[in-house]
Amino acid sequence: MKFFIDTANLDEIKEANDLGVLDGVTTNPSLCMKVGVSDFEGHIAKICNMIEGDVSAEVISTEYDEIVEEGRKLAAIADNVVVKVPLIKDGIKAIKTFSEEGIKTNCTLCFSASQALIAAKAGATYISPFIGRLDDISTDGMQLIADIRLIFDNYAIETEILAASIRHPMHFLESARMGADVATMPLNVIEQLLKHPLTDSGLERFLADWDKLQESLKD
Ligand code: E4P
Repeated sequence: MKFFIDTANLDEIKEANDLGVLDGVTTNPSLCMKVGVSDFEGHIAKICNMIEGDVSAEVISTEYDEIVEEGRKLAAIADNVVVKVPLIKDGIKAIKTFSEEGIKTNCTLCFSASQALIAAKAGATYISPFIGRLDDISTDGMQLIADIRLIFDNYAIETEILAASIRHPMHFLESARMGADVATMPLNVIEQLLKHPLTDSGLERFLADWDKLQESLKD
């Protein structure tokens, strides 16, 4: 399973990358707003230089011609740019064009399995089902991951399932159980994944016992 970080914050990307387990980055306009990105293309270029994996950069246009123009520009920034396109009619048409041109895409704002299947048919590299936002409206986000996995496996579809809108470790764990190919998570969730109170208390006891041993050897 690939680990992506869901942020436009360069410090957070560096921190996750330094862990040595980062496979990519996803950004979106809201995440860019959060860190006050003023030069979007320059910012994406910086991220692409920092990491080897795929970096999703989202288009703002909603009409086919503009999406294609904007996406081609973004794709030209670096080899690891993935053009993020919303799951709307013109977006699907654009994904088809990008896939014919060999431009990688991440189809975003997916909330149903039928949407995911259409994006895959158009040749999307990644499909991003938003788990947390479904949970927010009392709909089981995890069930969507399971449905898409089942359908993609039925037809040996190669589009990668990128579990997005992950809010806590259980979203990640369930996504892994269900066979999502990628999980994109904020830094705090990545950090929560490696924490366990028994690890901390166990380490504390090991170190204390080691100190006791050293003391006893002095006698
Ligand atoms: C990632 O590609 C998505 O844009 C992101 O995970 C959305 O997360 P949110 O629902 O927490 O805003």
